[in-house]
Amino acid sequence: MIVYFTGTGNSRHCARLLARELGEECRDAAEFLREGKPARLRSQKPWIFVCPTYAWQMPRVFEQFIREGEFAGSDQAYFVMTCGSEIGRAWENNRELCIRKGFSCRGTLPVAMPDNYILLFRAPGREEAERMVRQADTRLQAGARFIREGKDFPPVPAAALDGVKSGPVNRLFYRFQVRAEKFRATESCVGCGKCARLCPLGNIRMEEGRPHWGDRCTHCMACLCGCPTGAIEYGRATKGKERYHFPGPEEE
Ligand SMILES: Cc1cc2nc3c(=O)[nH]c(=O)nc-3n(C[C@H](O)[C@H](O)[C@H](O)COP(=O)(O)O)c2cc1C
Ligand code: SF4
Ligand code: SF4
Repeated sequence: MIVYFTGTGNSRHCARLLARELGEECRDAAEFLREGKPARLRSQKPWIFVCPTYAWQMPRVFEQFIREGEFAGSDQAYFVMTCGSEIGRAWENNRELCIRKGFSCRGTLPVAMPDNYILLFRAPGREEAERMVRQADTRLQAGARFIREGKDFPPVPAAALDGVKSGPVNRLFYRFQVRAEKFRATESCVGCGKCARLCPLGNIRMEEGRPHWGDRCTHCMACLCGCPTGAIEYGRATKGKERYHFPGPEEE
């Protein structure tokens, strides 16, 4: 079974592509996260966890979801991590997570996709995004062959400072960067509630036609990039920047 977490749709696209390739069921972790309920799932086929990369690790909220959930049946686990460019040593943490869960770790496949973190960077334009997605699709098809043939994913090549990025920098990122306080809806807000429906953590509530952000935010960018009128800003960091969501028909 494929279980995914997504903010802006890249990882959902990858999960659905793998589901088609492998004839597998596909579940969105947000079904459980929004309700604050642990997963209770069963599969006789390997678990395939698909998620974005946040500061060179899997999102903490998804790691906690796997740690606290019940995944019965198969004891094999593959990880597919979409990323703007690199996952650092996230594969090592995934392996440790498998030990805690009693899974046999079959490896981590990094898949480069358009970078959605527009608080710090600019997302690529549509043409470049579509080119990246075509490349990602080829990589995922190759990944599906490993799974079909019961093989481990190949080892992730090492890059400079991987340990520092996935270790101390990741911790600093969560401590100082990941906050919801700076989100606000401008006067372009039409009160449609889409941001609240898109938040995978149920962190946004609508009051008198306006969104209010709680303190469970993980900076997934779903609300900011999914608002149909571009009304959401994060302090001054997002002013004038193109929003990003997966450039295909699978947005919601
Ligand atoms: C909070 C945050 C942190 C990110 N950190 C990294 C990173 O460390 N390395 C990287 O290559 N991409 C990073 N990205 C980019 C995303 O991993 C990438 O765009 C991913 O495909 C988004 O997936 P989604 O559309 O399923 O949410 C980050 C994005 C966000 C929102
Ligand atoms: S999605 Fe945008 S327009 Fe709709 S309620 Fe949220 S901020 Fe307002
Ligand atoms: S509040 Fe917005 S950025 Fe934060 S988790 Fe929800 S959708 Fe993602």
